[in-house]
Amino acid sequence: MKLRKKYLGLTVIIALLGLGSVSFHAYQKAKYAYDDFETPAYCRQCHDLFYEQWDQALMSDAYSHEWDEIEYFQLAVPHSEKDPAMMDAQEGCNGCHTPMAYLAGDVPPPDPKTNPRANESVSCDVCHTITGFSGDTPFNHNYVITPGKTKFTSIKRNQDSPNHQIDTTRFFASAEFCGICHNEKSPFDVWVKSTHLELMEGPYYKEGVVCQDCHMPDGPGKVAKMGDRYDNVQMHLFNGAHDPGKIRGTVEIRIAPHVQGLEPGEPLVLTVTLYNQKTGHKFPTGSVEDRIVWLHVEAIDEGGNVYPIPVDEKGFEGEEYTIAGEALAYQDMGIPLGIENFEGLRREMVPVGDRIFRMPYFDKEGRMTMMQWNTASLGVDYRIGPRETKVETYTFNVPFDVTPGELTIKAVMYYRLLVRSVGEYLKVPESEYTAMTVNEQEVKVTVYP
Ligand code: HEC
Ligand code: HEC
Ligand code: HEC
Ligand code: HEC
Ligand code: HEC
Repeated sequence: MKLRKKYLGLTVIIALLGLGSVSFHAYQKAKYAYDDFETPAYCRQCHDLFYEQWDQALMSDAYSHEWDEIEYFQLAVPHSEKDPAMMDAQEGCNGCHTPMAYLAGDVPPPDPKTNPRANESVSCDVCHTITGFSGDTPFNHNYVITPGKTKFTSIKRNQDSPNHQIDTTRFFASAEFCGICHNEKSPFDVWVKSTHLELMEGPYYKEGVVCQDCHMPDGPGKVAKMGDRYDNVQMHLFNGAHDPGKIRGTVEIRIAPHVQGLEPGEPLVLTVTLYNQKTGHKFPTGSVEDRIVWLHVEAIDEGGNVYPIPVDEKGFEGEEYTIAGEALAYQDMGIPLGIENFEGLRREMVPVGDRIFRMPYFDKEGRMTMMQWNTASLGVDYRIGPRETKVETYTFNVPFDVTPGELTIKAVMYYRLLVRSVGEYLKVPESEYTAMTVNEQEVKVTVYP
């Protein structure tokens, strides 16, 4: 409690001095040493269940994970060497991905392959010594942190711990706790990650539903090996977009054809209804610059001929970014890669004419970027909001040479963590851009002879 007061005091002084977030970061950086934090292996001795869960989540791999390593060392670090205005952003990556390294001033941290302590990533002791955030909005790792013998959490259970003190703060049960790292602003003052802000704007927050309800659900078990059993233990699952099971079923699909049967040469109009039943934020959220969700619709006749059906245009501003084409993008990657006049890579690499649910990010020259720190503006937000229903229509002109009989209409929604062209170009492991199926549906109509 005493410690907390002291740091609260410090934060207030910083705020009073009228210093902005940059100086708050200067205050955080190099403030502590790695030795001020216990390792996850230390906590594991008694909290084995949470350790196993955390270890399987991306949280334990946020620094060492290969795509993070590639983006940081091949793009962010060289970019900050060429453009000093990017230095804060480059150092700041570590404030969220490996907070201990950032707080120790070990930036850039050592190569993950040498197994440094930075690989502990978002560790137990980092989260459990956070007591609040500075300012009005949690974002860009503005945590107030007090490493030491006291571990903070939302509720105190029956036992005391032989190895540490326990203090409680309701902050741990709030969405704001997560927003500290799940909201991010670029150096151009643009929200490039806004998962917590999206939750606040959506229907769940008003009902008291927070991140923990869906990502750290309560279940029966023990908090510590030697402790009691409880029926509402806070599971450290953190399942997210890297878990195909979490992605599956996020959106429900219904195809409604306007007629049950028709003749070759006639148009078939399809209304496809898409309902986001699962997320508290938008879908996709988080690293929206990388993520791609798209709907592929096709017709298959009895002869096995497949006809891809492009989506009907709606005519809103920026729609071209939501329909797959052949355009090139990501030219700004040429800056860190040292390629002059880099022509860019395929913008999406999904079947031309498919609807894409995304929000494009643009650099200051208006080119689409996947370097979120280089984002100067955002394009149309065509993601699917929490409990939102989107409706798309498709018009299929049934060809004269179609095989009469049953015509199957199939809609499949896919998800990719990373645009495939970027993954291939930067030699990111294929698992980062394998298409996962979100959902699918089929209906049949009859084509008369
Ligand atoms: C030697 C065993 C041991 C170690 C090591 C240990 N803890 Fe604990 N911890 C306990 C016990 C026992 C409890 C109380 C369990 C109960 O109430 O059922 C506890 C409780 C907690 C609580 C509060 C939940 C409650 O039950 O009230 C938190 C948070 C916590 N530990 C975090 C950590 C973190 C983070 C680490 C590593 C830095 C750690 N612990 C290391 C034994 C340990
Ligand atoms: C991303 C931050 C984060 C990380 C990493 C994290 N925790 Fe937690 N932990 C939380 C939050 C938040 C809660 C409280 C959840 C709530 O109120 O619903 C919690 C709760 C706990 C509790 C109390 C559980 C209960 O049911 O009373 C213990 C013990 C604990 N964590 C230990 C650990 C250990 C050990 C690790 C590492 C293996 C770890 N935590 C990693 C955020 C984290
Ligand atoms: C009502 C349940 C629900 C709530 C509340 C919720 N989430 Fe999620 N979250 C999901 C589901 C389902 C997915 C998987 C689909 C997806 O990737 O969006 C997900 C995915 C994610 C992902 C991976 C996204 C990506 O594209 O990489 C992150 C990160 C995440 N959630 C963080 C949060 C945070 C932080 C909060 C609170 C601010 C939160 N979630 C609140 C259900 C929820
Ligand atoms: C100290 C910063 C920090 C805090 C606090 C934090 N996270 Fe995270 N979280 C991260 C980072 C960094 C990643 C992994 C990014 C990567 O490498 O892809 C991550 C990953 C995740 C993922 C997995 C996403 C995926 O694509 O699979 C989920 C889910 C998630 N966090 C939810 C939460 C929730 C819920 C909370 C609050 C209880 C929370 N986080 C608090 C930094 C944080
Ligand atoms: C404010 C905290 C924060 C900052 C600053 C930040 N990140 Fe992240 N980063 C996250 C979180 C949280 C996620 C996970 C979001 C999700 O699952 O969609 C993430 C995801 C990623 C991913 C995608 C991982 C994947 O597996 O798909 C990469 C790559 C990445 N960050 C690199 C960087 C780089 C490079 C920087 C610095 C230029 C940076 N990040 C700055 C919090 C941050």
